[in-house]
Amino acid sequence: MTGMTLSVDLLATIALELQNSLSQHDRFQRLVNSLRQLLRCDASALLRYEASHFHPLATSGLASDVAGRRFKLADHPRLEAIARAGDVVRFPADSELPDPFDCLIPHHDKLKVHACIGLPLFAQHELIGALTFDDLVPGKFDGFSDEELRLISALASAALSNALLLSRLERQSLTLPENARQAASPVTSEMIGRSAAMQQLKKEIAIVAGSGLNVLITGETGVGKELVAQGIHRLSPQANKALVYLNCAALPENVAESELFGHVKGAFTGAIHHRVGKFEMADNGTLFLDEIGELSLSLQAKLLRVLQYGDLQRVGDDSSRRVNVRVLAATNRCLKQAVEQGGFRADLFHRLSVFPMHVPPLRQRVDDIVLLAGFFIEQARVRLGIKQLALNADAIAKLEGYSWPGNIRELEHTLYRAAVMVRAAYPQSALFITPSFINLPEEPPGPPQASAPRDAGHEELQGDLQAATRGFQRRVISATLAAHQGNWSASARTLGLDTANLHRLAKRLGLK
Ligand SMILES: Nc1ncnc2c1ncn2[C@@H]1O[C@H](COP(=O)(O)OP(=O)(O)OP(=O)(O)O)[C@@H](O)[C@H]1O
Ligand SMILES: [Mg+2]
Repeated sequence: MTGMTLSVDLLATIALELQNSLSQHDRFQRLVNSLRQLLRCDASALLRYEASHFHPLATSGLASDVAGRRFKLADHPRLEAIARAGDVVRFPADSELPDPFDCLIPHHDKLKVHACIGLPLFAQHELIGALTFDDLVPGKFDGFSDEELRLISALASAALSNALLLSRLERQSLTLPENARQAASPVTSEMIGRSAAMQQLKKEIAIVAGSGLNVLITGETGVGKELVAQGIHRLSPQANKALVYLNCAALPENVAESELFGHVKGAFTGAIHHRVGKFEMADNGTLFLDEIGELSLSLQAKLLRVLQYGDLQRVGDDSSRRVNVRVLAATNRCLKQAVEQGGFRADLFHRLSVFPMHVPPLRQRVDDIVLLAGFFIEQARVRLGIKQLALNADAIAKLEGYSWPGNIRELEHTLYRAAVMVRAAYPQSALFITPSFINLPEEPPGPPQASAPRDAGHEELQGDLQAATRGFQRRVISATLAAHQGNWSASARTLGLDTANLHRLAKRLGLK
């Protein structure tokens, strides 16, 4: 064993820091920062393990979009090796296994990680996460013994398992059933985002889920209304029952009634069989009525009756059936206005919007853009079979400076197109998306964009002020740097800042 190279003082400080009652994310961030300092390496990450994926909880020294990436074990042999190891894993400098963080350690000419260790984290023999340490210099970790590294694992395992236990208890106190947590894949419909607006939304989802109330979900196109509906269902006591989907806009009037309520044989020409409607399919479960604002007035009346009395009639049937259905409805229109203009029934509106939920547009949660970008480019990378795919700082600044009228869907498509184009343009395996690959429509300069015409009519200038301010600072700094060809001291003068302060600010904003 080599001599003790770990500083005991620093370790003790880390242990104490973990006791401090900071927010969970802060605590993890401090942990990885201190551990990176302790091991004096280029990058460190704390990952949570769930359903064959690793999710970064906090990273240090890595590109800021890493936090939004979800690493599927099957796509990342190095992480798979860590997950299977049961103990400290040291990868040889010439390891054939690609490192998930190659290209993601910013500001280094060398892109390949050459020293890497992984520490799997366990709670009662169950894998709950991992710590990774990377460095560009081969042999960087040779001075640390396995015993020392196990000490770090023990510390981190305890912190992580405490945190997981706490969030489990929190969820239980919201009286959620055991099955709600196990239902559905946690990855496919995960809502990425840590902005204040997203945290609030996630809290509301958890609260309303158990209440059984009907929910009206509003928000611009592409903001994630459907994901919200899925989230509510997944955390509800009906999670193991069906979530039935019906798009009210896609239905011609004559078919709509039978789609919703079903019909009996012979009810109309072509009705050669009995047919069960969506309402009956969703019995004891959840019915998601998408684009509810497009429902005709006559169907609104029929829908209201089912919601009021819980009984429905199939088309052509005289008798009625009882159903017990929770309705989640979504729209990107302002229903209140539609009510005033006579296009939507007031009584139905009130019945649906017992608990209204508004999903804020992406431009009001600028802080989430880089996380979402990481989430989507990791998906694009896998789908396109690209070995390494990353965004450079200018590309991130460009994404954060745009108003995203099509919201998250537009971001997803933009990044997928960028990935396709960068792959077509360059043959190498490690690819960087630069601003020229990000095609965005021209925007008129000036104050924040007017909202999309079909916006639900919420005030533009709302949302998390700090996030908005940081987004604005990022934009101004990137633009100034670009104007000065990346010269920091010239940019600092223009911005009226001290050069050292500008460096610090840029670092804090994730621009460096
Ligand atoms: N927070 C998020 N994290 C990850 N993906 C998201 C998030 N929000 C939305 N998405 C993705 O963006 C796309 C659009 O989301 P969704 O379909 O839920 O939007 P919508 O509000 O229903 O849009 P529309 O009004 O056009 O129907 C989907 O692919 C969804 O998975
Ligand atoms: Mg939708």
